[in-house]
Amino acid sequence: MVDAAELRRACAAAIDGYGGGYFHGRDWLRAAFLEVPREHFVPDRVWWPSRQDGRYPLLDRTERPRQWLKAVYRPLAALITQIDDGRVRPEDGPAADGCFTSSVSCSAVIVDMLHHLDPQPHERVLEIGTGSGYTTALLAQRVGAPGIVTVEIDPDLARRAADNLGALGLAPRTVVGDGEGGYAAAAPYDRILSTAAVRSVPAAWPRQVRTGGVIVTPIDTPYHTDALLKLVCDGHGNATGHLIKPVTFMKTRAQRPRRSYGELGWPGWSEHRVTVGADGQRIRTEGR
Ligand SMILES: C[S@@+](CC[C@H](N)C(=O)[O-])C[C@H]1O[C@@H](n2cnc3c(N)ncnc32)[C@H](O)[C@@H]1O
Repeated sequence: MVDAAELRRACAAAIDGYGGGYFHGRDWLRAAFLEVPREHFVPDRVWWPSRQDGRYPLLDRTERPRQWLKAVYRPLAALITQIDDGRVRPEDGPAADGCFTSSVSCSAVIVDMLHHLDPQPHERVLEIGTGSGYTTALLAQRVGAPGIVTVEIDPDLARRAADNLGALGLAPRTVVGDGEGGYAAAAPYDRILSTAAVRSVPAAWPRQVRTGGVIVTPIDTPYHTDALLKLVCDGHGNATGHLIKPVTFMKTRAQRPRRSYGELGWPGWSEHRVTVGADGQRIRTEGR
């Protein structure tokens, strides 16, 4: 029988092999990853995120426990827990089509996001997109569950996540609602982490973060990928920051429809000025 703790250790080793070591030498992050049983947050039936023979395969813990557990600890895979807001059901088997609407996030990406978020012990953190509660549990290892407010728009997912967390003795404030509004009742926060992508960062987020506090969120870009965005807040509702790297995430519910990139503030293609010379190539954005 494959042992979950053994697979978790192997997964941690693989994660540390990516991009110069995704734990970035942060001992707390590695310890948190090794402490949290990811399998506890994964439903018995989940979809694998890549098509095989035209369909997304269903992984069934009861029928094939070994295959299911190995998938839980594949470092670069998110496991799909919901399609089309629950209209496609795991009982129906492999999925031919549909839009992924919730998952247990990819381990390597979550570890990297937590590194960039850089939460400190006893800080107050707002998480948007509770999903299964797995990311919340990792965060709780660092800041402590009482410091976390986690918001999930889907009531069934929120309830399941609260149960999963509770079974491990973790009781963050779990809120059912639209996280684009943040959660003003418990503001100000030291940090906000969103594991749902936005096209436009909601104005409520920097309004609810203290001076010098940080927001980490995936944002849609015109470059055919989302990117990880890190913002530092000024305590007056403004935030400034930069893109870190490409990632792929589900959009927040209200931001699923496409919008014009010009309207969202992105530079147009012709604003990228390219210079080529003996020193090589440079690309800058003009007029911004
Ligand atoms: C990629 S999943 C998060 C997975 C989570 N990090 C985990 O590891 O289990 C994104 C989640 O964001 C939720 N979501 C989408 N729009 C939201 C919104 N406006 N407010 C709160 N949650 C939202 C979705 O229902 C989904 O569960």
